[in-house]
Amino acid sequence: MRVAGIMSGTSLDGIDVAIVEITGTKFSRRVEVLAVRTTEYPRLVREALFAISNTITHTASVSRLNFLLGELYADAFLATCSENGIDPKSVGLIGMHGQTIFHEGDPVEYLGHRVASTLQIGEAAVVAERTGILTVSNFRERDMAAGGRGAPLVPYVDYLLFRDNKVGRVALNIGGIANLTAIPARSRPEHVMAFDTGPGNMVMDALVGQFTDGKQRYDRAGRIAAKGNVHERLLLSMLSDSYYSKAPPKTAGREQYGQEFVSGLMATGIPVADLIATATELTARTIALAIQRFVEPYTSVRDLIASGGGAHNDVLMARLGELLPQMEVTTSADFGIDVDGKEAIAFAVLAHASGCGEGANVPSATGARRAAVLGKVSAATR
Ligand SMILES: Nc1ncnc2c1ncn2[C@@H]1O[C@H](COP(=O)(O)OP(=O)(O)O)[C@@H](O)[C@H]1O
Ligand SMILES: [Mg+2]
Repeated sequence: MRVAGIMSGTSLDGIDVAIVEITGTKFSRRVEVLAVRTTEYPRLVREALFAISNTITHTASVSRLNFLLGELYADAFLATCSENGIDPKSVGLIGMHGQTIFHEGDPVEYLGHRVASTLQIGEAAVVAERTGILTVSNFRERDMAAGGRGAPLVPYVDYLLFRDNKVGRVALNIGGIANLTAIPARSRPEHVMAFDTGPGNMVMDALVGQFTDGKQRYDRAGRIAAKGNVHERLLLSMLSDSYYSKAPPKTAGREQYGQEFVSGLMATGIPVADLIATATELTARTIALAIQRFVEPYTSVRDLIASGGGAHNDVLMARLGELLPQMEVTTSADFGIDVDGKEAIAFAVLAHASGCGEGANVPSATGARRAAVLGKVSAATR
């Protein structure tokens, strides 16, 4: 079956669409990638999303953006089809992650109750109506209803794509936040370990915005970081954050590494290029530390398979190679999975699993009581 995945991550950079051909079910699924395309968010939409993410109010903006994103997701899907000579009618299913604007995986006290919650916007009804294709959306809620943290959901797909009989592997996605899935050799799905290591590109991106007066949104290939100097004292103080020594499972988000964090860095008066170099080093070091502290004591791993936009950052990738000399650093592209399309591909697969009635959350990764069939359905047009 031909399936599309639509993903927009915490970087708020845009909409990734992947179109894949899936054969088989469960872990004998085979996934062939037909097309991947990134559609940038229009500048005003991006700014509006920044303004409402992790804030308390803004109800009208949330409602409007929900429907507007539905239109943008449908357009992004149709553009991916037309650019790649794919007939949209040949696509049988769309899996749409949506844009997370709030995520609280662990319950908090609220109105005398303990409440965990998550909110992804981007109205699937609009996507289904514009495309005519059955659309599965809102994957995280069901995992949370089953007692999970709603994240991470990609480990199921990492296990499917990258497991190996002989070697242990780490799938590392460097988006706004960096997260990894450790897959022991010859393991079962419940043996995977998955968690957020800390910042991915989020801190670097915000600093680059400041450094270039908004002209550049990220450090292309790590060129600015390559010219800056790592500020050791600042790096050590950032590394002393208790998040990095806390045992997994754990999740990080824009709450930790957003505007406040970056304002704190700017207030140090350290030259911005040096801050960018230091933030890049922080990402590399916290990934390496996470593997050394939590993965290697649990299972032996050989391959580090990077994906996400951060895989294009040469400084970051070179540092990972130096900090983890015992590992072979590769990218998902070596396994036929486009680095920028990896998460969109994952949501295509998750939608397919839902369509087959399979539970696709990995309880050991999310903390859920059981594997539940994920997602909500917006029906195809008859
Ligand atoms: N050529 C590149 N060089 C360096 N960094 C890049 C490059 N392309 C993308 N990125 C980084 O990747 C980020 C987007 O990554 P992505 O995987 O889409 O993250 P998310 O899932 O959080 O949206 C950008 O914000 C940028 O920091
Ligand atoms: Mg993105």
